[in-house]
Amino acid sequence: MVGASTAFAIMASGLASDLVLVDINKEKAEGEAMDLGDAAAFIKPINVYAGTFEDCKDSNIIIFTAGANQKPGETRLDLVQKNVAILKESLPQLLKYSPDSIYLMVSNPIDVLTYVSLKISGLPTNQVFGSGTVLDTSRFKAELSEYCGVDPRNVHAYIVGEHGDSEVALWSTANVAGMGLEKFSELKGIEPVDRQEIAKRVRTAAYEIIRRKGATYYAIALSIKRICEAILRDENSILTVSGLVNDIYGIKDCCLSLPCIVNGSGRNKVLAIPMSVEEEDALRNSAQVLKQAIQQAGF
Ligand code: LAC
Repeated sequence: MVGASTAFAIMASGLASDLVLVDINKEKAEGEAMDLGDAAAFIKPINVYAGTFEDCKDSNIIIFTAGANQKPGETRLDLVQKNVAILKESLPQLLKYSPDSIYLMVSNPIDVLTYVSLKISGLPTNQVFGSGTVLDTSRFKAELSEYCGVDPRNVHAYIVGEHGDSEVALWSTANVAGMGLEKFSELKGIEPVDRQEIAKRVRTAAYEIIRRKGATYYAIALSIKRICEAILRDENSILTVSGLVNDIYGIKDCCLSLPCIVNGSGRNKVLAIPMSVEEEDALRNSAQVLKQAIQQAGF
């Protein structure tokens, strides 16, 4: 569902002229393409079809959503063995036809799969990266905007680290109109936000949705669309995508999310955003969790 929802989001946005859907179940891919294609009269012209790895040849962006998703109660890291196996099988076939494409990894555990993709492909770190905590950051902004009573687009706050249970909310730099949250709450005459409760709601959002409807796909699809927009329009947008982090915050050789400048070259620059001591410690813990999972995956 993530792949099809992403195709829908990208089609509705008018971002792409060509969209190839590749699925191990070819008939399903054909059905999705036909269903999307029937909307032709309502959107900008686009050539959407079910195809093969070869049909993806020289795509601007290859969005990798293949693999199992979490079952109720399952963590993202529980998916590592089966989804790394699918990645090891598929990625070399994609690289054969599209060595110069930008690879946007989405399948979970996203940070581990991003690391494995870099190792398998040998491509530069701007060219292979993951959707990371772009979705979590949106969930964080949504929670804070509701509490503060402002447009989510006027809330600047980031979730970094693992796209998963060890993720870190950066409260020390969170702000509304350039004001820290305490100052803004005082100005608005509201109680300071319950940090623990908000961080818990963001961290457990996927579990709560999966428990109710079996999977998440709309918000992740729009997160991917947002990243593709920044790439295809060369926007220099700051997004918390997942990628290789080396020698910052005392972290070496791990993939996790930090605010990055995303533009036509992909994940162009990592921003070493200032953090509190607690936030940095939590980020290093997240990196440790991920390095163990990467080792479990055999890398
Ligand atoms: C979620 C999935 C995409 O957080 O990991 O909804």
